[in-house]
Amino acid sequence: MDVREGADGMPPLRSREWFAGSDANAFTHRSWMKNQGVPDRMFDGRPVIGICNTYSELAPCNAHFRDIAEHVRRGVLEAGGFPVEFPVMSLGETMLRPTSMLFRNLVSMDVEESIRANPIDGVVLLCGCDKTTPALLMGAASCDLPTIVVSGGPMLTGRMRGRPIGSGTGVWSMSDDVRAGVMSEADFRAAESCMSRSAGHCNTMGTASTMACMAEALGVTLPGNAAIPAVDARRRVLARDSGVRVVELVRRNVRLSDVLVREAFENAVIVNAAIGGSTNAVIHLLALAGRVGVPLALDDFDELARGVPLLVDLQPSGRFLMEDFFEAGGLPAVLNRLSGLLRADAPTVTGRTIGENNAGAPVWNDEVIRDAGAPVRADAGIAVLRGNLAPDGAVIKPSAASPQLLRHRGRAVVFTGIDDFRARIDDPDLDVDENCVLVLVGAGPKGFPGMPEVGNLSLPRRLLERGVRDMVRISDARMSGTAYGTVVLHVAPEAAAGGPLALVRDGDMIELDVPGRRLHLDVPEEELERRRTEPGPAPAEATGGYQRLYIDHVLQADRGADFDFLVGRRGSAVHGHNH
Ligand code: FES
Repeated sequence: MDVREGADGMPPLRSREWFAGSDANAFTHRSWMKNQGVPDRMFDGRPVIGICNTYSELAPCNAHFRDIAEHVRRGVLEAGGFPVEFPVMSLGETMLRPTSMLFRNLVSMDVEESIRANPIDGVVLLCGCDKTTPALLMGAASCDLPTIVVSGGPMLTGRMRGRPIGSGTGVWSMSDDVRAGVMSEADFRAAESCMSRSAGHCNTMGTASTMACMAEALGVTLPGNAAIPAVDARRRVLARDSGVRVVELVRRNVRLSDVLVREAFENAVIVNAAIGGSTNAVIHLLALAGRVGVPLALDDFDELARGVPLLVDLQPSGRFLMEDFFEAGGLPAVLNRLSGLLRADAPTVTGRTIGENNAGAPVWNDEVIRDAGAPVRADAGIAVLRGNLAPDGAVIKPSAASPQLLRHRGRAVVFTGIDDFRARIDDPDLDVDENCVLVLVGAGPKGFPGMPEVGNLSLPRRLLERGVRDMVRISDARMSGTAYGTVVLHVAPEAAAGGPLALVRDGDMIELDVPGRRLHLDVPEEELERRRTEPGPAPAEATGGYQRLYIDHVLQADRGADFDFLVGRRGSAVHGHNH
């Protein structure tokens, strides 16, 4: 790893530009900090470590972060650093409307500008609920200081009448059971408190767990970070150790870009396949790579992960939950089992390579973390589809789909937005059967706006009542990482940006061929040309404010849905000050 050291063994600290000296500015910077009881010795040149906290009672997955931050703080002090905690906007997946994804880029700006504008030498990012991990990493990557991620950890396994309930995944299946009349509404209500029984984020391999695994696979966390339950005392130890470690990263001037190299992203893509990770990881990793300047393309997800076995038997692709994963050995055990496929020489924040970190990590339960010779599935990667319906690509997670639907030709039933879908899906007059393909348009980055997690469209009630549990669904939306089904997502360009999804009409035949990586609208080109002259879906109406900025600048899904003006690394230099 490239380590840049200053002449005295320490790089110059940017915090000295605020706190060193005897002029009025230095007086002001120190004096106002002292109103918190900070002693003068804290300004003696020790590294200042920002603890970027996404604590919020409105982001329940991150509501225990004051405790996590306290243990990071202890570690920073133990290592001779000066910890300073600061808040950024938090994103609670379950609460935010219209969708938390709308705000991921906003939070990344909050993080980037908060770090750069303040006397901070290194950063600990406290990440938990889905979007908080990519948002914080994207912002920090654009600033590029020594950085380490501490995840909040998953909830303990929730149980109802002795049976485990997976966060999110259980909601989707129980909701279908209620709609199909096989579960009472009273039982559905009772399941709420059974499912969410402790602090932490979703306990399935949803987007939060996936992104925690991605952070660990990228090398920006200490080993074992992803799976330790939120309330396990070892989570506090990891937080404290991370506080110690980030001080060392500052002393050795190891920046985020020293760790987030192409090899790290390749590892993350492979690991995402092996854990049955969320399709959302595609969008977030593309955006993060764009920030740090690493070339990563949508097709890399297909090519790098082709043939990677699904080793982790967790919901929604499998059976178990994150607590089981932790007890089976967690991500270090997976990384060890994948060692032949990974770039073992990729650097990490420990100062060792990813191969060195995880060599010999044991598996304690071969049912949860399978051997490569007996995987849950032989070929688990996210498939990237192309064709006249998705010229810039679309994705599907075959491990969460029905094998018999991976090659399918069906009649389109088109919905022109999520409101249209909700209004008509249970209409007894809707002409639909289980062989149809449900198509949702207008739910992409610009169309909704914010690309909501609605792609796993509920099936028509009358088909559910007949026992149908999966159909092919296609949209320019995303899907919750806890969801499942034969669902084609992230169609690019989206309908509202002129994509051909806007040209589909009821009754058109659509061909899905996942093994052939093809998504085809079987309509003559002349007819498609004629339809292009008809008015199609437009970007969402925005009255102004942030939504206006979002619609004007968001990139398509194949570019990570970042803002065009945020791509890249801008560094931590700041010129001038306000006094
Ligand atoms: Fe926060 Fe699932 S709702 S991680």
